Amino acid sequence: MSLLVTGIGELVTNDPHVGGAVDDDVTPGWLGAIRDAALVVEDGRIEWFGRAGDASAADWRIDLEGRAVVPGFVDSHSHLVFAGDRSAEFAARMTGAPYDGGGIAVSVAATRQADEQTLRGLLEGRVAEMRAQGTTTVEIKSGYGLTVADEVQALRLARAATEEVTFLGGHVVPAEFAHRRAEYVELVAGEMMRACAPLARWVDVFCEPHSAHAFDADEARTILLAGRAAGLGLRVHGNQLGPGPGVALAVELGAASVDHCTYLSSADVEALAGANRGAGDSTVATLLPGVEFCTRSPYPDGRHLLDAGVAVALASDCNPGTCYSSSMPLAIALAVREMGLTPAEALAAATTGSARSLRRADIGRVAVDARADLAVLDAPSYLHLAYRPGVPIVRALDLG
Ligand code: NIG
Ligand code: FE
Repeated sequence: MSLLVTGIGELVTNDPHVGGAVDDDVTPGWLGAIRDAALVVEDGRIEWFGRAGDASAADWRIDLEGRAVVPGFVDSHSHLVFAGDRSAEFAARMTGAPYDGGGIAVSVAATRQADEQTLRGLLEGRVAEMRAQGTTTVEIKSGYGLTVADEVQALRLARAATEEVTFLGGHVVPAEFAHRRAEYVELVAGEMMRACAPLARWVDVFCEPHSAHAFDADEARTILLAGRAAGLGLRVHGNQLGPGPGVALAVELGAASVDHCTYLSSADVEALAGANRGAGDSTVATLLPGVEFCTRSPYPDGRHLLDAGVAVALASDCNPGTCYSSSMPLAIALAVREMGLTPAEALAAATTGSARSLRRADIGRVAVDARADLAVLDAPSYLHLAYRPGVPIVRALDLG
């Protein structure tokens, strides 16, 4: 059965080659925005898109009455499998307490105690919350179990919610291994990896010498190489709490993404830009402005990254510690307000940029044969995403 979606006031495709696209001061031609558009969907894929006047009939038809449609957001970084509450930690931070990753242990304890049914309910609620705000693909990490059995359980739950599952046994060294770090790294890279890799697509590690709980470059490399040997793609939490080795390590190993990038040296920027100039897949810098917002940290200079030629993605990092927000519209608004991205660049980073960080070409854009993963705005233009911060104007488009 085919479905004609018409009455689209503005359709953002992310296709720079689309004919008749708007090209003006605020909406660059590379965004591939078409006014008065329509599209046809069949079997969950886009079969046709273009000017509404050129559309042919379909079995069903919906009229969006002038609303804007954009590719559904690709939230390429989240930690949704957890129990417990850390709102008091947030409140303490707002009166000056620093974030050092120590609070992760609170979520680990609560997650280990929760039963599977409870964790599933919490996870499903968070995924629904994301969809209600326009997110159509989410990457979900483990990392609050940190035993073989608890990590396996987290990954199984995540797999029921998304294809983009990340093993994060290397989140922190759990309390019971505090004086046996090397043993924990060996466990993650060995037995835990063997049990978890078949359930995941990616491996990630919190590479952060500024946190006593996280991993230094050598420990992180050991875990990432074990993940690669087990068939996983690589992602890195890097340069979050201070200048550090995370970005360099991610580029060295050809990771798909290095996330946070809060504190970057010029060598880091050059390494990311250099990787991008090469042929083939490169390391994407994933910015997580909700984290800077919720930890009261300085925002990285996204403008500088783009101008240097770095591939940039935006994601929520929804997690109980540094950013308990699942809102991609908030990330977009902050990237524009605080990181120097234009509204068009921020939307592209939250869609095609984050799809690229997941090495996916079937999402994050409107194209024939791409997945019909779309978001609709109660507004005439994508510009309203940044223009109306905090207002719930965007949701995933339900195609029935
Ligand atoms: O991406 N930095 C490491 N992990 C999360 C925070 C986890 C937590 O505090 O619970 C992050 O910021
Ligand atoms: Fe994270």
